Amino acid sequence: MENFNVAILGCGTVGSGVAKILLDMNHELVDRSGKKITLVKIVDLFPAKSASAYNLPLNLFCGGGKDLTPAEASQYIDEIIADQSIDLIVETIGGTGDFLFKVFIDALQAGKPVVTANKAMLAERGSAIFETSNANGAMLGFEAAVCGAIPVIRAISDGFAGDKVVEISGIMNGTSNYILTKMQDEGLDFDTALKMAQEAGYAEADPTLDVSGGDAGHKLCLLIKLAYGVEVDYNHLLIEGIQNIKKEDIDFANELGCNIKLICYARKMNGKIYAAVKPMMVKYDNLLSKVSGATNCVKLENKYTGHHMFVGKGAGSLETAGSIVSDIVFAAKYGYSKKMNAESDFELVDPDNFEFPYNITFSTADYPGITGLVTTAIGDELINIETVSHNRHGSNKTLFSLATMPCTLAQIKRAIGRIRAKAPNVLLDEPVILPILK
Ligand code: HSE
Repeated sequence: MENFNVAILGCGTVGSGVAKILLDMNHELVDRSGKKITLVKIVDLFPAKSASAYNLPLNLFCGGGKDLTPAEASQYIDEIIADQSIDLIVETIGGTGDFLFKVFIDALQAGKPVVTANKAMLAERGSAIFETSNANGAMLGFEAAVCGAIPVIRAISDGFAGDKVVEISGIMNGTSNYILTKMQDEGLDFDTALKMAQEAGYAEADPTLDVSGGDAGHKLCLLIKLAYGVEVDYNHLLIEGIQNIKKEDIDFANELGCNIKLICYARKMNGKIYAAVKPMMVKYDNLLSKVSGATNCVKLENKYTGHHMFVGKGAGSLETAGSIVSDIVFAAKYGYSKKMNAESDFELVDPDNFEFPYNITFSTADYPGITGLVTTAIGDELINIETVSHNRHGSNKTLFSLATMPCTLAQIKRAIGRIRAKAPNVLLDEPVILPILK
């Protein structure tokens, strides 16, 4: 039987999970791939510590058990790339730095498949990496990079190869969803819920990428590339996080029959693509509103096969590793690269000009006629109001929100401009504008 040898670069949470599954499943993987898949090498800066922490055989680690300097690790990685007997590299180091970027390029140039969970690298610097993969026919596996355990990459690229994705909507960051669920279910404020997410081991010590929408944005860029064949520049994607969501926003959402979720959204219409990561008010009868805790969910609307939902774990050692191993089996079995073509002539819709029903929450001075002033400005911009909430009166201020029929953000911004022009000090805070997802 043909051998298929694998090396892992980086043995942290995910890399160790890959090692465990490869060691545990070696018999099953033979049946599934037709090859003897063997983990032959691991490069890690701290072999003894990692081997003991994750209960892995020390003899798999390069360097005979002693800690490696970065230069030594780099030397071992070069040797692995050049080694004809190693068939595939798993990259689980993480980050977007130049050193790692070069590892991707060098390995793919050498014709070696690379499998990774590194969404940040692929979303921010993926162009050259995908090009090198295509040019050299070396597979780049990234099932684990989008929603950890959920096989959404394979579903779009293979399962729906005979279809077109019209709309993607999903919850792709478990930490944010955990926080929003705690705020919703237990009435906690953002900071307390974030602390709980950190204590539960979901949020990173620096949770910025999670709560700012950046991590979800990386995943959306990859899904857009896969679904629509276009490369959306991560830095140009509209990304808003959940840091400013307050308890009162959740109350207003509930009043409207919605939960607030951090939604990754993309829709292709008439050759144009609208894409954004934003907190949205999701109607209770949209199943995304029911996805709670750290769970991820991707919803697809396809042209021919209709609606589909994929729900599962978006993070975790073995959960993410399972997707990496599935890419390894795919590479061993088929050994070819699926081309990831990128169209260059497409237009990203200006987010200000895309229509959604919106909910706008106003915090204003409290005096007779204030609701009229605000709603008149909205009407003057030809925005049709669907409902206006109860006013919540505080000391000298009132909070109220209104839900609109589909309109653009540009119209809403102009209406707010009208309010400010008419009564300069009446708005006490920036209005909170959230799309409503039906
Ligand atoms: N930190 C991410 C999450 C998982 O909370 O979903 C890795 O992208």
